[in-house]
Amino acid sequence: MSHAEADHDTRRSRQWLAGEARGAGVDRDRLLELGAAMAALTAAADEREPVAVAPAPVGVDPGTPIAKPLPPDLLRRLDTNAEMRWTALAGQGYVVPNDRFFVRNHTVTPHLDADTWRLRLFGSGLRDAPTRDAPVEFSLDDLRRLPAEESTALLECAGNGRRYFAEQQDDPTPGVAWGLGGVGVARWRGVRLGTVLRLAGLRDDAVDVMPEGLDPDYVTGGVNLGRVRRPLPIAKALDDVLLAYEMNGEPLPADHGFPVRVVVPGWIGISSIKWVGPVEVSTTPLFSPWNTRFYRMFGPGHPAEGTVLGAQPVKSAFELAWDARVPAGAELLLRGRSWSGNGPIDRVEVDTGDGWRPADLVAADRGGPWQRWTARWRPPAPGRYTLRARATDATGTTQPDRATPNALAYLFDGIVHHPITAL
Ligand code: MTE
Repeated sequence: MSHAEADHDTRRSRQWLAGEARGAGVDRDRLLELGAAMAALTAAADEREPVAVAPAPVGVDPGTPIAKPLPPDLLRRLDTNAEMRWTALAGQGYVVPNDRFFVRNHTVTPHLDADTWRLRLFGSGLRDAPTRDAPVEFSLDDLRRLPAEESTALLECAGNGRRYFAEQQDDPTPGVAWGLGGVGVARWRGVRLGTVLRLAGLRDDAVDVMPEGLDPDYVTGGVNLGRVRRPLPIAKALDDVLLAYEMNGEPLPADHGFPVRVVVPGWIGISSIKWVGPVEVSTTPLFSPWNTRFYRMFGPGHPAEGTVLGAQPVKSAFELAWDARVPAGAELLLRGRSWSGNGPIDRVEVDTGDGWRPADLVAADRGGPWQRWTARWRPPAPGRYTLRARATDATGTTQPDRATPNALAYLFDGIVHHPITAL
């Protein structure tokens, strides 16, 4: 069985539309009702992505949905989220340091106690079908005693780049107005989800696994959608998915899922459930609003029920401030990064106003989840310039001049026009 995200979503959405859905706690009629509510919400072009109204858990200040400091030179706050400033990567290594890694919270960062925290596996896909109330449990120490693995993986929000639909293409968009900073690469360490599933008594006929976060329920449009959760096919769960307890050599920070999060390499960010607690393992397909109503393409060119999201498209960013000031006449080394959900980057080109030319790729990054590159440029005279970078991935796909619009403004892949002033 394929474990590509789009294949899985396509299969599941057919089943869902055919009425075969059984979402934990959310049945199909309910999902359809929620869908209608979502469609109404997204119909208003100036509608923002709904922010949660769930009460904050005890001990959390609802005014600070993010625990870590948000110094404006590293991060830009966007409602309950924060995006990385690309200047904050200048002079850094391959991974994004934890203090500047973007945060995408549907509600607030919960503060969980590692001593009492348990991973709780249940469902028909495990031997003897343990129930949600009497699950197979693992403590953090239990997980740490299992063979550890490390994976350098990229996390990206499907809405990354959304603001350029409006700013560059005049396509007004709902949702969190991410620039290009809703992405990051980190070194994750933990235990394979597959190892834990097998220890918990995985049955051969299990088909789906659904990790669930311990952050507050997500409430939108007056409807409580429950905890953030999204199913994975068993093939992916047994392949390269990690239950991570470390990020870049440190215990997982609170905002990134302490004590344990799921990391699903190559899939959109929502799959990598933070603060994971319950995990349902099922012999029948699982559904949640996060694979049926959100993270789908709606609008012209898409059927009423939407199209599932494919892999993240190709993107490029300069490690420069927006409208940076640079000296005219002096040679600059422009730096940036490119990435694609379809595989490694093969080629990057840069345009500083006089045509496209190849950028130099950092050899050590070849084949990795993102690619650093450099290009030399001497601004000939004082004035305003536009920098552009476009990448081509291993499938031969190059970033287009314009991204194709969709109602929820996902998967922006257009070439971003980066303004810069030479003084
Ligand atoms: N998991 C939980 N429990 N709650 C959330 O709000 N957000 C998801 C995912 N996992 C989310 C979650 C989304 S949309 C993204 S893009 C990633 O976490 C972001 O991970 P980060 O905040 O560590 O960068």
